[in-house]
Amino acid sequence: MTQYRDPATALQYVNSFEEKDGLSADQLMDSKIRGGLTYNDFLILPGKIEFPASVVQLKSRLTKKITLNTPFVSSPMDTVTESEMAIYMALLGGIGIIQHNCSPDEQADMVRKVKKYENGFINDPVVLGPDATVHEAKVLKQKLGFAGYPITENGKVPGKLLGIVTSRDLQFVEDDSALVGSVMTTNLITAKKGVTLIEGNEILKKTKKGKLPIIDDNGNFVSMLSRTDLMKNENYPLASKHPVTKQLLCGAAIGTIEADKERLTKLVEAGLDVVVVDSSQGNSVFQLNMIKWIKETFPELQIIAGNVVTKEQAASLIQAGADGLRIGMGSGSICITQEVMACGRPQGTAVYNVSKFANEFGIPTMADGGIQNIGHIMKALALGSSTIMMGGMLAGTTEAPGEYFFRDGKRLKTYRGMGSIDAMQKTDVKGNAATSRYFSESDKVLVAQGVSGAVVDKGSVNKFIPYLYNGLQHSCQDIGVKSLETLREEVVKKNVRFEFRTASAQMEGGINNLHSFEKRLYD
Ligand code: IMP
Repeated sequence: MTQYRDPATALQYVNSFEEKDGLSADQLMDSKIRGGLTYNDFLILPGKIEFPASVVQLKSRLTKKITLNTPFVSSPMDTVTESEMAIYMALLGGIGIIQHNCSPDEQADMVRKVKKYENGFINDPVVLGPDATVHEAKVLKQKLGFAGYPITENGKVPGKLLGIVTSRDLQFVEDDSALVGSVMTTNLITAKKGVTLIEGNEILKKTKKGKLPIIDDNGNFVSMLSRTDLMKNENYPLASKHPVTKQLLCGAAIGTIEADKERLTKLVEAGLDVVVVDSSQGNSVFQLNMIKWIKETFPELQIIAGNVVTKEQAASLIQAGADGLRIGMGSGSICITQEVMACGRPQGTAVYNVSKFANEFGIPTMADGGIQNIGHIMKALALGSSTIMMGGMLAGTTEAPGEYFFRDGKRLKTYRGMGSIDAMQKTDVKGNAATSRYFSESDKVLVAQGVSGAVVDKGSVNKFIPYLYNGLQHSCQDIGVKSLETLREEVVKKNVRFEFRTASAQMEGGINNLHSFEKRLYD
């Protein structure tokens, strides 16, 4: 008769094995056996659930000196990150890297907007001058869907506040050529700059006014609180803020040409916290010189260098003074670099090798490109990166630049590679290419490394980022780690285990054998 083991010894027995089930990260990533791996080529084996998902900490290092409450970063691309995206990424605990396919002044203005942002306050209100006509105000109302425009002497912000034109002021005026200065409400309640959101909201409640203009020390109108937004004001407990100024953290990208030094000076004046030196192949003398110059000129500014996919590339940038590294070449969803340049590396392998090397120097890494779902984020973090950068995942959100349009019954937004012909052809006022990410922007024949396309509407990042956050917490719970820090430690100790996925295993892991289905990811 077969002799079975005593079930009471099952744990003792499984612990007696020299190796746990599955593979260590090193074994998984042995490229001599399997070649380069992407996120879809492997899985993480489950551990033991011993705590609720809600206690999982997702704190992560962005650079040597900056730690974020979430590992999410938005790409410096002109269809992904401008001020609105950067504001919400920072409010939700991540950070946005403002794109640089625009003039230095435009980019610095975007950084300034993020740094000046105060939750609940409208810092960029639409204002009119007293000479605007009622017709203009009515057209604006129709276009924007709201009225309540402050009237300033110069028609700008900041400017001396003269009154407010509300829907009621406009409603009964029949002469559309009348000037708003003659119909505006001048009996105003205002508050001084520095008023808190709670105090401001109290004033709105008491006075029953729709808008509360905020005035600075020079008597100029600078921002506004709105009654309609009162109920919508959300709390952002994870927000990424500067420890002293309490302003939101903001990143921005620059290239590696001489003109980028002047650009960066403007960005730093606007309050920049971290610069991303944006190059598809980061191991260049241009980038090394730029890093050295930045360190000498702005020693406080944190630098994320890249992009790299090998230890050798990483070593150059680390030695030059990088405070963080960005990993990825050819893995982006809009990217044709590997096809055109023959250069690049499968992203899982690149993240693992570069992170392992950089972590020995205490340099955090960011996995950039190819992130399509929460599983990919988790895998990038398990392979050693401490943050992840997303382009395509965020391009369809409300906060991404650009208008929605309809095609084939779907609501879409444009998403394009910064190395697409479209993006490279964009020039500044002097007719020069605005960026130098691919070293081809100023060539007579442009060699594209990206494409231009469209992505489906994703709604607001206000819902999407919390979905990613909660998803990651649940993933950590399944693996049995209470924080991303523990995750990385346990991977190094070989306690978190991996499994290689064959092509059929990947099919099995996807949806299969259904006649039809609807894939709703969150609610
Ligand atoms: P995604 O998140 O997969 O859409 O990839 C975004 C990343 O692709 C960016 O952060 C860049 O590193 C990279 N990228 C942006 N534009 C291009 C391009 O035109 N060609 C190749 N890579 C690009």
